[in-house]
Amino acid sequence: MSIGPRTLGLTKITRKLRQRINEHHAKQEILRATKERKRRVRSEVHTKMLKIGFLGGGKMAQALAKGFIKAGLSEGEKMLASCLPNDTGSIDAFKEIGSNTVFSNGPVAEHGDILILSVKPQIVPKVLPELKDHRKLILSIAMGISLASLEKGLPPGTPVIRVMPNTPALVGCGATVYARGKHAGDDEAQIAEKLFSAVGLCEEVSESMIDPVTALAGSGPAYVYMMIEALADGAVKMGLMRSIAYRLAAQTVLGAGTMVRDTQIHPGQLKDDVASPAGSTITGIHHLEKHGLRSAIMGAVEAATLRCQEVSSLEDEK
Ligand SMILES: NC(=O)c1ccc[n+]([C@@H]2O[C@H](COP(=O)([O-])OP(=O)(O)OC[C@H]3O[C@@H](n4cnc5c(N)ncnc54)[C@H](OP(=O)(O)O)[C@@H]3O)[C@@H](O)[C@H]2O)c1
Repeated sequence: MSIGPRTLGLTKITRKLRQRINEHHAKQEILRATKERKRRVRSEVHTKMLKIGFLGGGKMAQALAKGFIKAGLSEGEKMLASCLPNDTGSIDAFKEIGSNTVFSNGPVAEHGDILILSVKPQIVPKVLPELKDHRKLILSIAMGISLASLEKGLPPGTPVIRVMPNTPALVGCGATVYARGKHAGDDEAQIAEKLFSAVGLCEEVSESMIDPVTALAGSGPAYVYMMIEALADGAVKMGLMRSIAYRLAAQTVLGAGTMVRDTQIHPGQLKDDVASPAGSTITGIHHLEKHGLRSAIMGAVEAATLRCQEVSSLEDEK
């Protein structure tokens, strides 16, 4: 029996229709899975039982895991981290807080409702393909890897948030910023903020501000450590014991920072308040101005930002 052009046309339409229906079902399935994930995460936030997976269990991951437990957001046994088999230090650190570790990323992606991408930036392209079967919330702390390149390497629709913490997060005194990806909404941003507020200050910025923030808050501790050393050296030169000099210098920096943060008085005003006429502080300030302290620090933040931009663009080109 020959098939006429009308029947052929109908078969084509039926095939197209079937394809549309399948696409519709796939979309519905993504929506359903996203809704279910959001519901689960919301109830976990409520019951303080977040299931968190660390893709890379290094120093930052360990600091964050400890902070989340301390803040009551999760428990050791609710977290899982991937480590390389020879990284016994990280494996032991996670064991100490009651978390299991595995040698591959698949089980971590399966386990966590929230995944923290905490491998070194150059390892990220290796890890992203391992997440292809999941559409979970990804919080990436990898320096210099843009939201666009993360989204490109992940299944369409994956909510991604780029986070930039700093090392004082290790002692619960971090300064973190985050920027949302295309598919991360208010619910996801709230989760990021809740988690990273557990290890210090956490604020949202636009992605273009991540490089200046890295130069300020990420590199800043190194500049302040140099200043602490220099303050102590000055006092040692003038006869003070080194041990007490470091303690006093560290406490002075901590105190000054706390004054700026907690009183919200302008730092210039706080400086004026300690510089009495013809006093020792104004004499010291004059010395610093003569040697360009402000200009040197501003220049350091500018130089570090430019270097971050350079590194980010190299990573994006890969
Ligand atoms: N430290 C900071 O101040 C800071 C601040 C902001 C952002 N960050 C970002 O945080 C991320 C982690 O930094 P970190 O200081 O914690 O570095 P880290 O201690 O080296 O942590 C990375 C961990 O990932 C492991 N790893 C390597 N390949 C892996 C793979 N294929 N699968 C799973 N895990 C793997 C590493 O094991 P091995 O050591 O055995 O290779 C290491 O334990 C980086 O992307 C960094 O840019 C760090």
